[in-house]
Amino acid sequence: MSNDGVNKGRRRLLIGATSAVGAVGAVGVAVPFVASWAPSAKARTAGAPVKVDISKLEAGQQMVVSWRGKPVWVLRRSEETLANLAKLSNLQDPNSENLAQQPEYIPQTPARSIRDDITVLVGICTHLGCSPTHRPELAPADLGDDWVGGYYCPCHGSRFDLSGRVMNGSPAPSNLVIPPHHYESDNVIIVGVDQEVA
Ligand code: FES
Repeated sequence: MSNDGVNKGRRRLLIGATSAVGAVGAVGVAVPFVASWAPSAKARTAGAPVKVDISKLEAGQQMVVSWRGKPVWVLRRSEETLANLAKLSNLQDPNSENLAQQPEYIPQTPARSIRDDITVLVGICTHLGCSPTHRPELAPADLGDDWVGGYYCPCHGSRFDLSGRVMNGSPAPSNLVIPPHHYESDNVIIVGVDQEVA
């Protein structure tokens, strides 16, 4: 009986010791891992710029990068898309007059971008913060005959064109935000650093 009690006590002690070693082991493994990614994660949170290589981005394709913990879309648009953007009339702020939504060096044109072919947008709906879906197709059944490609927010149905301009009838009150950015070269965009304004 006394033996049994001692054994139970020993077993408890051993389990406790093993758990403690396990916990220390886990910390020992976790620390180098955390240390290896912590600086960049910290830098991203603080808003460190993000370099985006668009050399392989073809017309109609979109890349998603993360800047300040937010998705940023980089889309290359075709001539046809640009022509369609210029024809749209069902927009709440077609001339990007709400200047809070884009840096001052972004032209208030249908393309709404430094370079016509490339648009850079924060991929967060200006209604309540969902991430809209890229819907580049022409006239899909669920979005209607007049849809020429854009972004559709699945949360409450806001619609944006491929310049991030919000369409009439959407609950979103404003165009998608354009983040600060500039071109380091023809194929490299730096998101998070403004273009120098002359
Ligand atoms: S969050 Fe996009 S429509 Fe409401």
